[in-house]
Amino acid sequence: MINRETIDKIMDTARIEEVVGDFVHLKKRGTSLIGNCPFHGEKTPSFHVSVTKGIYKCFGCGKGGDSVRFIMEHEKYSYPEALKFLAQKYNIEVEETVETVQDLEAQNAKESLYIVSQFAATFFEDQLWNNSEGKAIGLSYFKERGFREDIIKKFNLGYSPDVWDALTQDAVKNKHAEEYLEKTGLSIRNDKGKLYDRFRGRVMFPIHNFTGRVIGFGGRTLKTDKNVPKYVNSPESEIYHKSNVLYGLFHAKKAIRDLDNCYLVEGYADVLSVHQAYIENVVASSGTSLTIEQIRLIGRFTQNVTILYDGDAAGIKASLRGLDMILEEGLNVKVVSFPAGDDPDSYMHKVGAGEFKTYIENNRQDFILYKANILLAEAGNDPIKRAGIIRDIVESIAKIPDNIKASVFIRECSSLLAIEERVLLSELNTMRAAKFKKASSPQARPAQYEDMPPADLMADNEPQVTATATTNDDLQEQEIVRLLLAFGHELVSWDKIDNMYIGSFIMQNLTDVTFENALCKKIIDHYRTEIENGQLPTANQFIKSEDREVADLAITLSTSPYTLSENWYNKHNIYVRDETINLKATILGGLYHLKKRKVDRILLDLLKEIKMESDAANQEILMQRYAFIKNVEKEISRFLGSVIVK
Ligand code: CTP
Ligand code: MN
Repeated sequence: MINRETIDKIMDTARIEEVVGDFVHLKKRGTSLIGNCPFHGEKTPSFHVSVTKGIYKCFGCGKGGDSVRFIMEHEKYSYPEALKFLAQKYNIEVEETVETVQDLEAQNAKESLYIVSQFAATFFEDQLWNNSEGKAIGLSYFKERGFREDIIKKFNLGYSPDVWDALTQDAVKNKHAEEYLEKTGLSIRNDKGKLYDRFRGRVMFPIHNFTGRVIGFGGRTLKTDKNVPKYVNSPESEIYHKSNVLYGLFHAKKAIRDLDNCYLVEGYADVLSVHQAYIENVVASSGTSLTIEQIRLIGRFTQNVTILYDGDAAGIKASLRGLDMILEEGLNVKVVSFPAGDDPDSYMHKVGAGEFKTYIENNRQDFILYKANILLAEAGNDPIKRAGIIRDIVESIAKIPDNIKASVFIRECSSLLAIEERVLLSELNTMRAAKFKKASSPQARPAQYEDMPPADLMADNEPQVTATATTNDDLQEQEIVRLLLAFGHELVSWDKIDNMYIGSFIMQNLTDVTFENALCKKIIDHYRTEIENGQLPTANQFIKSEDREVADLAITLSTSPYTLSENWYNKHNIYVRDETINLKATILGGLYHLKKRKVDRILLDLLKEIKMESDAANQEILMQRYAFIKNVEKEISRFLGSVIVK
């Protein structure tokens, strides 16, 4: 186990903005930093980092935590793995107490997979450069295809000898456990229990994760025999998940960020060739159709994707739909297509590095217009087919989350398709409305925006806002917890109170309120107990709570500006631009809003009771109670409406 002092040292050193900043492009906004959330796809940033609190929080998907938590989530590391990762980043020596063999084994298992993969990569590379078979067959193959030595080296290309168990034997000789050879898929066990190599007589492409560690391989045959599969690939393993890996990303990520664009190609060979043309911002989906995870991976580095296409028409049509997914993620998609029969790789070798670069820079087309052109050409003069195209194109445009961008495309397509803009727009609105209906189910949107129309409808002429009535008091209860965490330690003197902590003030005003949300209740109860014991709890106490649920809520609330929507405050004329300016209004607003909720609820229940009651005398009693509480409610409303404004 990593000892306490080391953990503390790591926690003190690992600044949240630096840790997150390695993976997310952060911009300053107000007192916090914001960026696009790395955990879910998004177009408008809702991922907040609070430097002072040392935590991050995404208001889109809800993930939040401290530096260690971020690394755990992001890199899929265990707690000790994440600590070690941070220790390495900050050059902190990790002191560990002795562990059991099982502990060590569990921790080391994944590491062992990385290690044996790296061993294999080195083995294959060595075979390519230093072994006579490797040189004669593998290296000369790459050279014949026109790949330069610096490119072959940069991507650590290799060669697997054409024998049964060259790698397996060498690995075992070097004390690598068979278990890990099998788990990475480098070796396969036959019926007789003997291990043999998965890759034999192939040129090898190691696949790196984006931090540069080898996680898998693609091996290309040199035979032209149709019965031999062209590529043999590593299977999925604990370290290799195909759907979220992009070939070449490790070598490309810096250039992608710097140039704010990512070229997307299909195969290994294409990546090498594009690099050879001195274009480094290129990755490949490696044969599988693009996955949402891969798109989001790109989205972390840039919002601009340029697809480099084969000139083969069938392939283009098949992939058009897949590309809509990129639009949906809010990325801008451009396309460069090559002359029929050429892919980026063959075209580069045909025309040379310089001309290739010029070609792709001058032949970018916006994806939607590209798609429209292709479909138009295909439809010819057939009116029915042309009508189908309109739907198809507008469907793509409807996926663009940004309204302004979408309307630009509507205009351009209107002239391209010779259709009035109005017609396209009405088609677009129909589709959007359908999409909105689907997206606005209760789980789909975070609660704090309940009074706000969805962003993509805000610009429309007829806002379709329907305020959803919440069925419980969660928001109001959470707001109290938030106020406690944010302002509990401030000393105030208002009216009759003198020099009192807001924490105590709030608790005093809650004696008549029962919290219904279990989590809020837990926090409030804890807060009350602490105060009764003469301690004023800090926000940190809850943020660092061992109770994960408590910690999560504390983090959410500490990073959230207003649990109640801004609209609510506006309705009651309460200034929220900077709530600390009118702290009194904020605190009383929170308290009385909760009380009003509770009272409204009692009134509603009473009303039901009155209706159900058949006995006139009983009904009379209930009515009196109703009138009394109604007065309380009126008082609260009046208070909310007038007193607080001062
Ligand atoms: N692929 C695969 N298995 C196959 C064929 C293709 O895994 N049987 C994947 C590989 O990742 C390959 C990509 O799909 O890189 C694109 O296929 P292709 O264009 O055929 O491969 P290239 O790498 O371009 O190979 P080459 O140009 O050498 O034919
Ligand atoms: Mn190819």
